[in-house]
Amino acid sequence: METANCGVGMALVETVKGSPMAADRTDDAPGDAWTGWISVGRLASGLILFAYVTSHLLNHAFGLWSVEAMQFLFAGFLWIWSPLPGTVLLYGAITVHVTIALRAIFLRDRFRDMWPPEIAQLVLGLTIPLLIIDHVIATRGAYELYDAGSDYISTLNTMWVLAPVLAFKQSVALIVAWTHGCIGIHFWLQFKGWYRRAHGLFLAIAVIVPTLALSGFVAAGMEIRQRAEQPGWSDWAATRMKTPDASESAEMFGLIDDARVGYVLLVLGAFVAHGIRGSYHHRRRSLTLRYGTGEVVRATKGQTILEISRLQDIPHASVCGGRGRCSTCRVRIGAGLENLTPPSEAELKVLRRIWAPPNVRLACQTQVVDGLEVTPLLPPHSDGGAARGGPSYLHGRELEIAVLFADIRGFTTISEQRLPYDVVFILNRYFAEMGAAIEGAGGRLDKFIGDGIMALFGVDGDPASGSRQALAAAKAMSERLVELNQSLAGDLDAPLRIGIGLHVGPCIVGEMGYGKVRGLTAVGDTVNTASRLEGLTKDEQVQLIISEVLVTASGLAPETGRGTEIEVRGRTQPMAIRCIRDARDLKI
Ligand code: FES
Repeated sequence: METANCGVGMALVETVKGSPMAADRTDDAPGDAWTGWISVGRLASGLILFAYVTSHLLNHAFGLWSVEAMQFLFAGFLWIWSPLPGTVLLYGAITVHVTIALRAIFLRDRFRDMWPPEIAQLVLGLTIPLLIIDHVIATRGAYELYDAGSDYISTLNTMWVLAPVLAFKQSVALIVAWTHGCIGIHFWLQFKGWYRRAHGLFLAIAVIVPTLALSGFVAAGMEIRQRAEQPGWSDWAATRMKTPDASESAEMFGLIDDARVGYVLLVLGAFVAHGIRGSYHHRRRSLTLRYGTGEVVRATKGQTILEISRLQDIPHASVCGGRGRCSTCRVRIGAGLENLTPPSEAELKVLRRIWAPPNVRLACQTQVVDGLEVTPLLPPHSDGGAARGGPSYLHGRELEIAVLFADIRGFTTISEQRLPYDVVFILNRYFAEMGAAIEGAGGRLDKFIGDGIMALFGVDGDPASGSRQALAAAKAMSERLVELNQSLAGDLDAPLRIGIGLHVGPCIVGEMGYGKVRGLTAVGDTVNTASRLEGLTKDEQVQLIISEVLVTASGLAPETGRGTEIEVRGRTQPMAIRCIRDARDLKI
């Protein structure tokens, strides 16, 4: 049982200290053959250490039951972590984690770009060793070096009776370690859909576990302090373990001081090396990188596009902080694609997730070559939502889809006769009904323009199914309009009337917009034609006009409605259309 207590503390400390979770934003040198291994090493070592911290916290939580229960559970920890395999796993993880963290500090491009959670993680991680070095050396160190003993009760006695400041330090270290680990877990999982869905549960666990642990630790401490009031109990507790003698203690305190100084020097060394690396890069800029906006900057061989953007103060999205996970730093390569090193497996995985075409790369993973031209594809302040994977058409693609336009007849007159509140109320009721009809048929609401609606069908399918969906939507809209008019009868002088235009054909489909006003939309002749057909419903005195092309594509009976032809700008041939008086009459 001896080493467990100290081992727990040490691992806990080192977990926090070593984790590169905050420090390593752009640090896995992209294109580097080590990149994948470093990512795996960081994750594996972090998880081992987080498991260790968690078990330590759970052990403390048992103090809510009794000190003996804590000691009993502690035996289980010893069984895992004290034997050689557990020790190798634990200390191996600590070594790997610390090394990667220091490497991350060295390689980081700029610290001032860090966002608050990253700063918190870095500061917490660097603080923990200072909080627990003395505990680690005085427990496990003393066991290894001086054959000193320890057990849970005597250790609690030391921390809560003989030197209560140690209990306080231990508690602070636990909170810091847990918080650091939780931030790292969040950074790791933040782009997973299941994690986002279960975010509340994870947050609850993140709060409940340390709360229980601290409560248990304090309860155990109070129990120990009560026992210590009994005559002779403290002496009895002290005899439960062998302690270092005076000279050994002096040597041990010297070791603690040396370890603290050594650790501080190590961290300072990483920061100094980082500064030297930065000035080296600054002096050796010999490559030219051109942005789509026209800016031309100098770069050093080995730097990534994202590093250059940051160093040159060019706004560039990077939600995951340059870890190659989020895809928000993606750029389109305009020139120099053939000179780039091929994407690593890790980068390819992310690029496949977003269905990126071959000329799109992750800026954080792509090293600059001379004459490279790039255009960031997402706005600089894109959030995690932009990191979600999506189909290729989000980047722009020509698709054959069905387009629906709908408009309320004479709504200008209605709005002029009503109070603004009534207009908003009526419109929102109308949009809710029409939106439900469109989505119920499988369409995508593209936009509401005044009292008009634009919707797309078949974006994920084919023109035939999209055309059928569009017809189903038109019919459902008409049916819902009748019900809506009945329910609004008391609010309207006359029932709402709508015109709907449907056409199918090639469109440019993609995610377009600016800032927060961004979404999937379509542009092109098909869209204009659908809009024109909707406008014609007024002249033709019908509710629905469908292009003959859509009739054919959908398999609708050719004799549906009344056929006619219209002139369309840019076409030499007139366009055949079908006019349907009431969309509810559609035989679909
Ligand atoms: S910054 Fe997240 S993938 Fe590049």
